[in-house]
Amino acid sequence: MKPQLTRRRLETLPREALHIARNATKADVYRFEWPPDSSRFAVLKEMRARPLWYRVLAGRWFLRREQRALRALKDIEGVPRVIARPDADSIVMEWRAGTPLMEWEDGAVSPQSLEKVARIIAQSHARGVVHGDLHRSNVLLTPDGDVTLIDWATAGVFGPRRGGAKNWTFEEWRALDVRALAKLKARHAPMGLSETELAALSSGSKLYRLVRGAGFKIRRLFGHRKAKSPDETAAQYRRLMEEASLD
Ligand SMILES: Nc1ncnc2c1ncn2[C@@H]1O[C@H](COP(=O)(O)OP(=O)(O)O)[C@@H](O)[C@H]1O
Ligand SMILES: [Mg+2]
Repeated sequence: MKPQLTRRRLETLPREALHIARNATKADVYRFEWPPDSSRFAVLKEMRARPLWYRVLAGRWFLRREQRALRALKDIEGVPRVIARPDADSIVMEWRAGTPLMEWEDGAVSPQSLEKVARIIAQSHARGVVHGDLHRSNVLLTPDGDVTLIDWATAGVFGPRRGGAKNWTFEEWRALDVRALAKLKARHAPMGLSETELAALSSGSKLYRLVRGAGFKIRRLFGHRKAKSPDETAAQYRRLMEEASLD
C-alpha cells in the first residue's frame, strides 16, 4: 500500500528549498524524498506562507488549476505526475531532473530537445489542455535530453469535447502556447520553425524580424540540407542568431 502523504506526515520529512518565492503571489517550492528511503523525490509547491486573503482569492485557485492539468496529462511522459494534495494550500508532484532552459547557453540546447517540448505541447493540446505560461524557466532539460514541462498553474483544461465559445477560447489560448513555443525555437533552433510558427511570431516584433533575417540566411547557407550533428547544428544556429542580431 502506498504511504499517505498528509500535512502532518509532510511536516516530519526533511526537505530542501528549490525555490523560495520572491513575491507575495508565488508558491514556495521544496524537494523531499518520497516515498521514504526510496531514493526518489517529490516536489512540494505551497502557498502557506502567503497572506490568507491571497490564498483564498488566488493561491488555491492556481493550485487547483495545476492539479487539474497534471491529472488530465498524467500519462504524458514529459509532465510530472501529481502525488498528493496535502491541504488546500499545497500540492505534491514528482520531482523531475533537469535545469530550466533559461540557464542553458543558447547554443547548448539541441533542436531535438525543442522538438520534445513541441511534442509535449501537441499532446496536451490534443487533450484540450493549454499550458498558458510556456517560457524558459518552465521547461526542464537534462544533459541526456530529457524534457519536462512544469508550472501548469495557469493552464486551462478545456477537455477533448468543446463546442462554440469554449472552443473559441481554447483556440485563443492554444495560440499563446504556439507563439511561446515559436519564441523558444527562435532562440534555440530557428531552422526548425514551421510556417505556422513564423506566422505566430509575426506581430511585427523585433524578434520576428530577427528570426526572419536568420531564416533567410539559414536557407541561403544550408539550402535546406540537414546539418550533421545536433552540436554542429546548434553552433551554426548560434552564429546565425548572433549575426542576425547585429544587423
Ligand atoms: N516537478 C518539478 N521537478 C523539479 N523541479 C521543479 C518541479 N516543479 C518546480 N520545480 C522547480 O521549482 C521552480 C519553481 O516552480 P514553478 O512550478 O515554475 O513555480 P513558479 O514559477 O510559479 O514559482 C522551477 O523553476 C524548478 O526549478
Ligand atoms: Mg515557473
